[in-house]
Amino acid sequence: MTRPDKKTRVAIIGCGSVSGVYLPHLSKSPYVELVSACDIIPERAEKRAKEFNIPNYYPHIDKQLAGPAFDLLVVTTDMQEHGRLNKIALNAGRNVWSEKPLANTYKEGKALLDLARSKKLRIWGAPAVVNSPQFAFMSKQIQEGKLGRLACAHAHYGHTGPTWSAFFYEKGGGSLPDLGVYNIATLTGLLGPAKSVVAMTSIVTPERTVDNKGKIKVEAEDNAMLLMDHGNGVISHVQSGFNYFDPYGHQGTGQEKATIQVWGNEGNMAMAGYDWAPHGVDMATKDNEQTQRFVPDPGTYVWQQGASVISEALVTGVEPLINVEHALHVLEVIEATRESGMTGKKVMLQSKFKWPIV
Ligand SMILES: NC(=O)c1ccc[n+]([C@@H]2O[C@H](COP(=O)([O-])OP(=O)(O)OC[C@H]3O[C@@H](n4cnc5c(N)ncnc54)[C@H](O)[C@@H]3O)[C@@H](O)[C@H]2O)c1
Repeated sequence: MTRPDKKTRVAIIGCGSVSGVYLPHLSKSPYVELVSACDIIPERAEKRAKEFNIPNYYPHIDKQLAGPAFDLLVVTTDMQEHGRLNKIALNAGRNVWSEKPLANTYKEGKALLDLARSKKLRIWGAPAVVNSPQFAFMSKQIQEGKLGRLACAHAHYGHTGPTWSAFFYEKGGGSLPDLGVYNIATLTGLLGPAKSVVAMTSIVTPERTVDNKGKIKVEAEDNAMLLMDHGNGVISHVQSGFNYFDPYGHQGTGQEKATIQVWGNEGNMAMAGYDWAPHGVDMATKDNEQTQRFVPDPGTYVWQQGASVISEALVTGVEPLINVEHALHVLEVIEATRESGMTGKKVMLQSKFKWPIV
């Protein structure tokens, strides 16, 4: 559903922490008209509405859908609610941008895509890591064979865990759908869809204290390691967790160390900073052995741009790099990691996406 010469009318549901980063970006986009905000904690919806001049606010999705019309629902609620709310929005004829993950299972996510297609609607999911110029640079080096015969890659992302909401630690939560998801999107984006996964997961901190529920029992993994087979002998590794001391903290501002590394037999590359906020790529090759820094400038890329980019795409009709089949593949990898961690077995994957992305 494109809206030439118009703005995308956007509604947001889930007015917690991340909405405070999304809304400044959305409110500055020339392609966006903010229509309504919703949260089951009504004062949060009201607060965001007042902060960002959003004319309507609601305590329930049904009321939001019955209010003034909008084209795109931006879903930034607890992770476990995404699949259910995305389905309600599609059934009500709205396009969807969902925070990660799109749904609780690959099956649920695939059903959402089928539903969207049957209704000629669109659904997309975070993250937006494929939009960074550093990702594009790395992808091009790989595609042009600058690293020679590709062999392997590593990615990691962790901090000491969110302190504000319990859902991060409840069933369906965990470090993988919250943090590892960026790394899985980056590595599959660079190396191609994974064919199988083997993994180990654990709970390092069995009890936590969070702002909204006090002391809770941790039910989802807070420590995960997975290996992906990308075919042609290429293997990659992701580790994520909520028990990583890092002096750069949650935001990672100023993080100089590489969090993504790729090796081939004629070169290697490392992405400086986290993959959701990179600020350079260090590369050494057989022809240029001195490691050199490339792409120090992220340009207009920021991780919170996803919903704005999709709003623009709905107006212009230009297909964005962010692709729902990629998000579904990442979801299947997350589910396979949980399964492999539980059974100790390798899990074969079925999903694919159009690759290379750039
Ligand atoms: N906080 C961040 O920096 C950050 C960054 C990137 C992505 N994310 C992702 O964004 C999502 C939200 O995270 P958060 O940190 O903002 O959590 P949060 O707990 O701060 O906010 C979630 C909000 O959703 C509301 N909510 C829950 N169920 C609802 C429902 N059925 N209808 C309406 N509102 C509902 C809650 O009341 C809460 O206000 C998660 O998927 C998280 O992984 C968060």
